[in-house]
Amino acid sequence: MEIIIQPTPAGATRIAAKIMADLISAKPAAVLGLATGSTPERLYRALIAQKLDWSRLTCFNLDEYVGILPEHLQSYHHFMWEKLFRHTNISLGNVHIPDGLASDIPATCESYERKIVAAGGIDLQLLGIGTDGHIGFNEQTSSLASRTRIKTLAPQTRKDNARFFGGEEKVPHHAITMGIGTILEARHCLLLAFGDKKARAIAGAIEGPITAMNPASALQLHPAVTVCLDSAAAAELKLQEYYRRAYGQKSDWQKIRPAACRSPSPKQPGKLAAGSCQI
Ligand code: F6R
Repeated sequence: MEIIIQPTPAGATRIAAKIMADLISAKPAAVLGLATGSTPERLYRALIAQKLDWSRLTCFNLDEYVGILPEHLQSYHHFMWEKLFRHTNISLGNVHIPDGLASDIPATCESYERKIVAAGGIDLQLLGIGTDGHIGFNEQTSSLASRTRIKTLAPQTRKDNARFFGGEEKVPHHAITMGIGTILEARHCLLLAFGDKKARAIAGAIEGPITAMNPASALQLHPAVTVCLDSAAAAELKLQEYYRRAYGQKSDWQKIRPAACRSPSPKQPGKLAAGSCQI
């Protein structure tokens, strides 16, 4: 795991945007796993400003609320269209977001998993983190082997997201989310976190035990994870000075990006093929 700590969210986002832009330039038909929420907004603006070619990219979003229309201002369909896709030349046929209105939710979840495999697997999975350590909507006690499925949102998540809906009572109770097992099959995971509200979850995810009580801690099992933090989100990390020094002293030969590496076996989470690199 590579931990990159920058003084501000803007600095940490710049590095994350470069990682994504480098992948898009090196692999124009890459498969991206995307996130919503406040954390990636600045990153999406940075990517839009670079006027990259999105025409051959395929995107899979992590999650969507159940029971709200795609046009709903807080649906993740709406978020992605407004914050990213409408500013790019992505082909809409290559955009995948879970269908929160599906009449058969288990079937739609299975089909989502099949589509990821058919696309060749996710090259880069962007992640935010909840204050309780959730990634996607994999709430505390989610199975670390879970696949795309419906989850009941935890009270803390509904409280945290009330700011978007204008009141906790308006926040849906359920969401469809990629599972932790699904996320761990991406070739590279890029986790972003900003602000002191994320400090405890980040410390648990990076330095705590691997536990379903902090679902992001499952990323410790993945051989290619980059974490971009601002100082506030890094504040509770015990080894912050080590991470800062390791990144500051990183020599050119170390700066191989996992996205440029060979594919992992899709059925063996985190297992990279021969010739691949680890961070
Ligand atoms: C959203 C998602 C969630 C958020 C997390 C943090 O697609 O997967 O895990 O990343 O809830 O949300 P923000 O960024 O709003 O703090």
